[in-house]
Amino acid sequence: MTERPRLTVIGTGYLGATHAVCMAELGFEVLGLDVEEAKVTSLQSGQVPFYEPGLPELLQKNLDSGRLRFTTSYEEVGAFGDVHFLCVGTPQKKGEYAADMTYVDASFRSLVPHLRDGALVVGKSTVPAGTAERLADELARTATAKDVELAWNPEFLREGFAVEDTLTPDRLVFGIRSERAEALLRAAFGPVIDVPTPVVTCDFATAQLVKVAANAFLATKISFINAMAEVCEATHGDVTKLSEALSYDTRIGGRFLHAGLGFGGGCLPKDIRAFMARAGELGVDQALSFLKEVDAINLRRRARMVDLARESLGGSFAGSRVAVLGAAFKPNSDDIRDSPALDVASAIQSQGAAVVLYDPAAMDNAKRVHPEIGYRESAVEAGRGADIVLHLTEWKEFRTMDPSALSAVVAHKRIVDGRNALDPVLWREAGWTYRALGRP
Ligand code: UGA
Repeated sequence: MTERPRLTVIGTGYLGATHAVCMAELGFEVLGLDVEEAKVTSLQSGQVPFYEPGLPELLQKNLDSGRLRFTTSYEEVGAFGDVHFLCVGTPQKKGEYAADMTYVDASFRSLVPHLRDGALVVGKSTVPAGTAERLADELARTATAKDVELAWNPEFLREGFAVEDTLTPDRLVFGIRSERAEALLRAAFGPVIDVPTPVVTCDFATAQLVKVAANAFLATKISFINAMAEVCEATHGDVTKLSEALSYDTRIGGRFLHAGLGFGGGCLPKDIRAFMARAGELGVDQALSFLKEVDAINLRRRARMVDLARESLGGSFAGSRVAVLGAAFKPNSDDIRDSPALDVASAIQSQGAAVVLYDPAAMDNAKRVHPEIGYRESAVEAGRGADIVLHLTEWKEFRTMDPSALSAVVAHKRIVDGRNALDPVLWREAGWTYRALGRP
């Protein structure tokens, strides 16, 4: 068995770029591949093509060490690697709930002909149950190299904490079919396992399910507290107090129990939909029918936010100026995929308001997708002349903002806190009408 296997990482998006950099940081020789030449050129020159705190520094350090390189050549990757991590995306299919497997299938088929004898291919992408079994069959049928094998190792990293989650994960899950595959994976994750990190070894089906089950649980927890926010709105209760009181019960816990505008991003929404689609194919759709409600509760929060803003303006957006703080789907990220903040901003713009937005990191991405919205370079500039301010992504810069900075520039001191992250007492004392989702 290889003591320190040489690793390749196929697909250098969020997951792949972070995995490649962190594995090099742990002392492995790593070759990253992407079919997009621009991404490879950018990474090779030390530029991370997305916002992730801590990653640019580690990328440069490991490029300098000589342990990390990037290429567009599958031939080079096949010749180099003992263990190949498949990290390509599985977005939601257009007009369907199911995951689009185009990138997984294409990268796998491009890699297989170039594998060396004894190589291990490790799937990390989030996939529908049954994918690993199908790829293992295909590998057995089509590989020309001897003793090549497949394993599944789902990834649980969060954007904004990607480095930390990769270097010190809560757990490692190894879906394996042989002792040899397990030994190679243990060698590839040696320094992580030594931390120590718990390792769960299991079959392919379970390994693939752990990932979607984890995201389904997290989404359910968020929608649960947002459902309670709806009830609080009807009863004049305060969901933030409710959530705090629940959190002291260690069986429930306080994490992912923060009510607000709900979940977005490239993972939770599409993963629960793909999970439902796969359950339908497997004939167990009833087992996951609750996820439809989880999705519906989540989307209702966006509609409620628009209603609350309109109500605060006296019943119409027409002719009003709306300042939006936040575009990213969550703080510490420039990712706008399925962003609740941008969804709300564009809905309000389409209802006749002039929306002016500021986000500390996601402005370029937001401008590309929503050029119809106005953009400014600071919260104060976005607030200038505003009839209402909407707080939609809870960046620290907004959470710690002194209300007087905005008081000086807005037309009307009205704020709706879509993330329940501002201090109502502070804003009200500064003369603002403060409203929020699920609290009086
Ligand atoms: C999520 C999971 O947390 C990761 O474990 C998983 O690896 C990743 O998806 C993935 O599948 O790749 P991520 O999408 O980076 O990570 O974002 P989260 O931190 O989970 O937040 C998701 C959304 O939920 C955000 O829009 C956030 O604002 C929202 N959220 C989170 C709430 O509305 N309330 C909460 O209490 C927590």
